[in-house]
Amino acid sequence: MSKHLISIHDFSKEEILKVLSLASKFEERKSDPIFSDKVVASLFFEPSTRTRLSFETAANRLGARIIGFSDAVNTSVTKGETLKDTIKMVSNYADLIIIRHPLEGSARYASEVSSVPVINAGDGANQHPSQTLLDLYSILKTQGRLDNLNINIVGDLKYGRTVHSLMQAMSHFKPHFRFTAPKELRMPEEYKEQLKINGIPFDESERLEDGIENMDIVYMTRVQRERFTDAIEYERVKNVYSLKNEMLDFAKPNMKILHPLPRINEIHQDVDNSNHAYYFEQAGNGVYTRMAIIKMLLDKIDI
Ligand code: CP
Repeated sequence: MSKHLISIHDFSKEEILKVLSLASKFEERKSDPIFSDKVVASLFFEPSTRTRLSFETAANRLGARIIGFSDAVNTSVTKGETLKDTIKMVSNYADLIIIRHPLEGSARYASEVSSVPVINAGDGANQHPSQTLLDLYSILKTQGRLDNLNINIVGDLKYGRTVHSLMQAMSHFKPHFRFTAPKELRMPEEYKEQLKINGIPFDESERLEDGIENMDIVYMTRVQRERFTDAIEYERVKNVYSLKNEMLDFAKPNMKILHPLPRINEIHQDVDNSNHAYYFEQAGNGVYTRMAIIKMLLDKIDI
């Protein structure tokens, strides 16, 4: 049976640490063309810059060839072909499928009809597990540890698939969470319930200013226009946070600001040259982490 990466729950703590260790080895080597006989399919039904390009870079650096599309408008989906039939076709052609799709649960469904491993590159507001693994790699690189960190997650905590996956993965490492969001975009109850069951402490705030001091990580997110059904609600919250350099005066020296990107205006450009800014390096770490994920799935390393 094929192994897949659909949800961060698919990985135990030990398996997450194995990905991070492999990613570190790939960062030292840069290229390692061990999969020159493999074809990787990159199926993006929703826009992407970092995830698609870093997965494709990762596959290239492993020697694999890439097929796929960055916009389903040029595929037979526009003629009415179902996701099931599309995946069954592509799994005849490729050894691994990377899929981003706007519907929650679509990647899980794809894995159930595919004969080859499937990686979820983001399914609606649900999960984005490869982003989480690169986030963890970035946290480990900058903090030297994953355990006992103070992490403030800021912005769209309701629809943000990256923060849902991150919160679940970090729960293995005894974090203290601050959730900073306007009331319309608070962390959903079911995720907070999971934290309570696992004994993970958290508090909630609407004020970003109060959530910088004492933090090891400030994880900013974009308010995602594409997830809102109510345009008026989006207009009300779209500019709710803007992190500026002057707000970092009392930050811990090694506090790092992460963001899955793209950003709109939630991090002011004057933060980019700060020692606290790490979001561009974080995106770069995506290549090594995704090389590790591809290797684990194509080698069928037990995960
Ligand atoms: N972080 C992330 O998923 O970015 P893209 O939407 O550009 O892939």
